[in-house]
Amino acid sequence: MISAQRPGPVVITIFGGGGDLAWRKLVPALFDLYRDEWLPEQFAIVGIDKESYSAAAYQEHVEDGVKRFARHRKNAKAWKGFASAVSYQKLDFTKKKSFQTLLAKIEKIEKEWDQKACRIFYFAIPPSLIEPVSHLLADSGLTAESKLARIVVEKPFGRDYESARKLNEMMKHCFEESSVFRIDHYLGKETVQNIVAFRFANAIFEPLWNRNYIDHVQITVSEQLGVGHRGAYYDHAGALRDMVQNHLLQLLCLTAMEPSVRFVADELRNRKVDVLRAVQLFDHEDVTELAVRGQYAAGWIERNSVAAYRHEEKVAENSSTETFAALKLHVDNWRWQGVPFYLRTGKRLRETLTSIAIQFRPVPHQAFPVEAIEAWEPNRLIINVQPRKGIRIRFQAKQPGLKMVLNPVDMQFNYSDSYDQEPPDAYETLLLDVMLGDQTLFMRHDQIEAAWKIVDPITEVWDATSPPDFPDYPAGSWGPENAHALIARDGRTWLSLPLDDDDEDERK
Ligand code: BG6
Repeated sequence: MISAQRPGPVVITIFGGGGDLAWRKLVPALFDLYRDEWLPEQFAIVGIDKESYSAAAYQEHVEDGVKRFARHRKNAKAWKGFASAVSYQKLDFTKKKSFQTLLAKIEKIEKEWDQKACRIFYFAIPPSLIEPVSHLLADSGLTAESKLARIVVEKPFGRDYESARKLNEMMKHCFEESSVFRIDHYLGKETVQNIVAFRFANAIFEPLWNRNYIDHVQITVSEQLGVGHRGAYYDHAGALRDMVQNHLLQLLCLTAMEPSVRFVADELRNRKVDVLRAVQLFDHEDVTELAVRGQYAAGWIERNSVAAYRHEEKVAENSSTETFAALKLHVDNWRWQGVPFYLRTGKRLRETLTSIAIQFRPVPHQAFPVEAIEAWEPNRLIINVQPRKGIRIRFQAKQPGLKMVLNPVDMQFNYSDSYDQEPPDAYETLLLDVMLGDQTLFMRHDQIEAAWKIVDPITEVWDATSPPDFPDYPAGSWGPENAHALIARDGRTWLSLPLDDDDEDERK
């Protein structure tokens, strides 16, 4: 992320190479890096998993993923060159012998190249396998040269503070922290990286970025999608663990962090941990007032009828897992004292969008006559992370005419208008950073633990009590009534975050 260059020779081993993540995200991202000439001349991708695939069948399987999901999917020309570096090995990750086989395979590749390669081990595996695989990997000697070893771990990283702490301890025992890359794919998104650029590469915003000018902040990650085929995982996770503990808290960190002295991994990560440590932790008795959960009932998404969460594949019929969560947080430090941060996320909501809305305070004195300010609104800055990528600033203007009438208008920056090239997928950025050994966009052990400390009191209360009113929001709405009440109690509303240019206050 800091200064991209072409990495040296690399062997990427994907544990879970036959799975959905490899097919949908990892191999397509590697293919795009290859097409854009970011991969080194000497690279190899080794998929390992329990299924049997011949080399040709595996290549066909991942080619299908590339054709569907890669940015360069239409350009099959490069496929042959790329495919020649892709291989598959059926291996049982719980057996010591498998790691000897893998070691022999990687050593053979390195011998052919006549040099040592960076060895990446990507854990696209269920959480229960992280511990045994880490031990076997460390014991096998595959990661003995720590400078060339990279272990990439997908979320969920633990289920709560205690399990995450133990997992970190275990990983510390097996590997150097500089070899461990804990992924939060939101950090690889172009627009998420731009938050830092926007805040710290411009002089005009930062002076206003504090309690003196900001009334409150809203962070929304809403999805139209339901849980799809991931019911078995999701029903044990829920929105808080699946989205808030990682993606939403990372967006909070980037919005609230102090500037770092230098743009280097550990300094940026220190500033982010400072934010998490400053978040006021909930007492159990505060949870009902400051956190809201919801679960979707059947409803309509863009004219298609969709089933209730409890009728999704592999979801319990009486499930009390939340598919929606909203929180009100306070960041207890000098900059943010008294400024609430409202976070919300949910599945099967009206729109798919991720945004950060900064609502500024009203002007200290209204000099205009009442008739002039009927449509007046305080300033607002919205960072649209996806799907429309950009930033808009709302301010007041005089409506043309002989009378003084003020109206809110928007100033906009859209990526698509300003830049021709399509931004890389988050996984392209992150995989390249892993190859380069740059940990800026990855979660350090203490970040993960601090984030769980925020979420734990809420999950403890929610896990202990079943919500009597689930399901409580129809698919296609903006979530449960209680979420509106959470913010309405403070005399505020969730801001509408439309995909088009008409910005009205949100209707349910
Ligand atoms: C994942 C969650 O981490 O992020 C999913 O497990 C969620 O439930 C996904 O759908 C959202 O990511 P994106 O990039 O589509 O916003």
